Amino acid sequence: MASVPFDQLDGFIWMNGEFVKWADAKVHVLTHGLHYASSVFEGERAYGGEIFKLEEHTKRLHDSAEILGFTIPYSEQVINEACRELLRKQGFSDAYVRPVAWRGSEMMGVSAQKNRINCAIAIWQWPSYFDPEQKLKGIRLDMAEYRRPDPRTAPSRAKAAGLYMICTLSKHAAEAKGYADALMLDWRGQVAEATGANVFFVKDGQLHTPLADCFLNGITRQTVIELAKRRGLTVNERAIQPEELSTFSECFLTGTAAEVTPVSEIGEFRFTPGEISKQLMNDYTAEVTPKQIAAE
Ligand SMILES: Cc1ncc(COP(=O)(O)O)c(C=O)c1O
Repeated sequence: MASVPFDQLDGFIWMNGEFVKWADAKVHVLTHGLHYASSVFEGERAYGGEIFKLEEHTKRLHDSAEILGFTIPYSEQVINEACRELLRKQGFSDAYVRPVAWRGSEMMGVSAQKNRINCAIAIWQWPSYFDPEQKLKGIRLDMAEYRRPDPRTAPSRAKAAGLYMICTLSKHAAEAKGYADALMLDWRGQVAEATGANVFFVKDGQLHTPLADCFLNGITRQTVIELAKRRGLTVNERAIQPEELSTFSECFLTGTAAEVTPVSEIGEFRFTPGEISKQLMNDYTAEVTPKQIAAE
């Protein structure tokens, strides 16, 4: 079945302070964000009518814009309220939330000092990638050709559209070979992350995850580290060399979209989703479930 294109969904989009009909939330082709990637965005999930870690995501949106040299003209509080109101208006309880901010059309060149800063929020229904049973089989990753750039080469702490160019390329290359996603190394050749999620490994009952020093320190990553510590697990944030992949027993990805997704394969290396992945998957589900729903 062909899915409905995203510009043809129903409902409302919050755009520059107003709720506009989904079909009317348009930008001109001469938009700086489209040509020069002067755009930042967020990906959030609502569970049971509440957006998980909304404040953290909105702060990161603001921070990402500042890193790209522009200021979003709506306070964090205004954006938080707009997200909540839009979720109610769309009538969804479990959904994906996509705020985006970009430079407009006033100047068309590398310099865009006078361009209006636009901001929009869209919310659509987007179920979990896989059901838990399927998820526990683990997904297969290829090794990506592109590497996460040196922070001296790109503003790697920002969730900026431009940084996703190599992610789409890597994901497409992996999908063409039948893989679900790709593992990217960083500019030094160390293990970094997947194309839209952070990565964790298990060895001798302890967690190992790369230091987030040249890619997004995901909000899910931080949540999972906290959940693991609550379980008394040791979490080693450190440089991980690709040669070490053969020494890990379990592997999983973390991200707002991916949640906690076990991995069964990275290129030639095999992993068996086990107790720790399962435990953290369940703990994450419990953590994102609003307390009053969990109590019912
Ligand atoms: C490249 C990349 N890394 C990591 C993450 C995980 O971030 P978070 O857990 O904040 O969603 C994402 C998802 O936003 C991502 O796109």
